[in-house]
Amino acid sequence: MRWKILKLLRAKGPAYLSGEEMARHFQVSRTAIWKNIQSLQAGGYRIEASTRLGYRLLGSPDCLYPAEIVPEPANKLIAVSPEQIRYYQEVDSTNKVLKEMADKEAPEGTVVVAEGQTAGRGRLGRTWHTPAGKGIWLSVLFRPPLAPGEAPFFTLLTACAVAQAVKNKLPALNAGIKWPNDLLLQGRKFCGILTEMKAEADLLHYLVTGIGVNVNCGEKDFPPELRASATSLCLANNKKSVSRQELARDLLREIDRCYRNFLAGGKDPIFATWKKYNITLGRKVEVKTLQETIRGRALDLAADGALLVEDKRGKTHRFLAGEVTLQA
Ligand code: BTN
Repeated sequence: MRWKILKLLRAKGPAYLSGEEMARHFQVSRTAIWKNIQSLQAGGYRIEASTRLGYRLLGSPDCLYPAEIVPEPANKLIAVSPEQIRYYQEVDSTNKVLKEMADKEAPEGTVVVAEGQTAGRGRLGRTWHTPAGKGIWLSVLFRPPLAPGEAPFFTLLTACAVAQAVKNKLPALNAGIKWPNDLLLQGRKFCGILTEMKAEADLLHYLVTGIGVNVNCGEKDFPPELRASATSLCLANNKKSVSRQELARDLLREIDRCYRNFLAGGKDPIFATWKKYNITLGRKVEVKTLQETIRGRALDLAADGALLVEDKRGKTHRFLAGEVTLQA
């Protein structure tokens, strides 16, 4: 009920809403209203209480509470309600928490979001730095009708959703996607995506896609070794801070939209969006995998999202995973 109370207070703007009126509206006692107000206050909402006039909302915390980031009108498949979003102040890794939930049959569309992580995970066993309250660190559960080998496609789908959400919120910034999963601004990474899965040889049980967006990180929030290569939306936005709540809401909306586009129209609409934001194709690249390092020109995406690179002898190499460095 507290989120419904918050909604009523918001609708009133800076004016007071009486406890009695709310009690009547929800058909509960005034004490029950007061208890919910107290729980909102404990969550950081500044609510003034006056015995004569009632309650009024003076300020909201910059927290990614489910009720604040759930899209409205409601999404259809992903984060369809606040109950489908699990919020934590701090976890080790949202991917890890969501995988445990997926193992216990959590439904598709479940989201885990945290203000901070103590053991944020990046690709290839790396660490992902997630300073508390400075970014959007969340994971989404998909149960798509795909073969396990097609899982990397979801990284591309998610990258499209992030690029689109950033475009909606900050149209002047040109976020580009570096294959497969890095989002860059002015050549520096502000977002990474880590897709993990549970599968048998030919059956995909689920995918957990973790997204880390550096939103309001300052330079000092990055470890010294990353300072030259990492950025945040705030840093790229002339150091003007960006609403994490609005961006998270938009991101969940775009993920839902991209996923539905894929279910209805297959991979082509996603590839088309990916190509619109891509900064990899046509460029000279170096691709490092566990087995080899290849230099060449990035030609295109294959039907499964693999990157096709032509080396200087004219041989085409196909990569489903790897670390790409864009060359001058
Ligand atoms: C990368 O570029 O290496 C991928 C980084 C992915 C980071 C996100 S933050 C939320 C989710 N939980 C994790 O532990 N990792 C992902």
